[in-house]
Amino acid sequence: MQAHGILVRARAPGSAMAPPPAPRRRPCRVSATAVRSRVTHSMPPEKAEVFRSLEGWASRSLLPLLKPVEGCWQPTDFLPDSSSEMFEHEVRELRARAAGLPDDYFVVLVGDMVTEEALPTYQTMINTLDGVRDETGASACPWAVWTRAWTAEENRHGDILGKYMYLSGRVDMRMVEKTVQYLIGSGMDPGTENNPYLGFVYTSFQERATAVSHGNTARLARAHGDDVLARACGTIAADEKRHETAYGRIVEQLLRLDPDGAVLAVADMMRKRITMPAHLMHDGRDMGLFDHFAAVAQRLGVYTARDYADIVEFLVKRWKLETLEAGLSGEGRRARDFVCGLPQRMRRASERAEDRANKDEPRKVKFSWIFDREVTL
Ligand SMILES: [Fe+2]
Ligand SMILES: [Fe+2]
Repeated sequence: MQAHGILVRARAPGSAMAPPPAPRRRPCRVSATAVRSRVTHSMPPEKAEVFRSLEGWASRSLLPLLKPVEGCWQPTDFLPDSSSEMFEHEVRELRARAAGLPDDYFVVLVGDMVTEEALPTYQTMINTLDGVRDETGASACPWAVWTRAWTAEENRHGDILGKYMYLSGRVDMRMVEKTVQYLIGSGMDPGTENNPYLGFVYTSFQERATAVSHGNTARLARAHGDDVLARACGTIAADEKRHETAYGRIVEQLLRLDPDGAVLAVADMMRKRITMPAHLMHDGRDMGLFDHFAAVAQRLGVYTARDYADIVEFLVKRWKLETLEAGLSGEGRRARDFVCGLPQRMRRASERAEDRANKDEPRKVKFSWIFDREVTL
């Protein structure tokens, strides 16, 4: 590994993953304690061969997980038809349904939508990965074909949520649009080091995290009486699940071909903690915006510290890490044991944090996304 030891920036504690490490009602203090060192190209060049050897497999087992465009849903399937005479009536119906959704729900929905809208950053990130990047922009290599089609599928997620919000009249769209612009300009720092081992562990986790989050916004929309939004969020969640399956399969292949390298990569990402893709979110006003959004998501049960532990546990089982033995060095065995014990340790820590948080006074924060109305963290 090439550790150049250059510090790139400080990150606020609590921004390390989608939920804060604990439900927080305390004032969010931004401090410069957590730093990520700049490590680049940490995969030894000879390991690029692993990805070349998997190209046939990727064509057979990965690309079929993409849906043909002709069979795909599109945002307009869930929205009023602007070419129809019924358009105004359908918009009024949409607004009547949206009126039943509380402000805190909209905060989480906007945060999810903003996260999806930073898609240029995610495609860029994947194309930083050595051995799998799209070398030309239209490469026929199966890794590149996957990445472009994955991006194209993902592109519908922010689109449907944004158009729905615009029509709902519940959201300050200009502030939301500014947040998207700031976020794309800021990028992200998941610590994947141009290393596809790390990159695909990250995407396996993140696709499941987004599936959980969109699944829960679907559940809450239904509970509040907005069945159309519930179907849209549920449909997004189904896409995320399909993508999770694909990325999970890649790591499975890495564990088969290079168990030591793969398990070390899993442990490395888990030690760093999985950063939420939108961790650099900003609206030009609230310096703690991401933490505040994550705290509301935690309180509503849309994405929580327990979900994080559940995802780690799911991946441990999905990749059969507990019984992984063959081909492991001593370091590999220690990495495996670290990852396998992680969900239990995280749950204990989150329970202690929940107990502490329950003793705190609930705190309210204004969100520009909903016209500066206050929401409880
Ligand atoms: Fe998505
Ligand atoms: Fe996704």
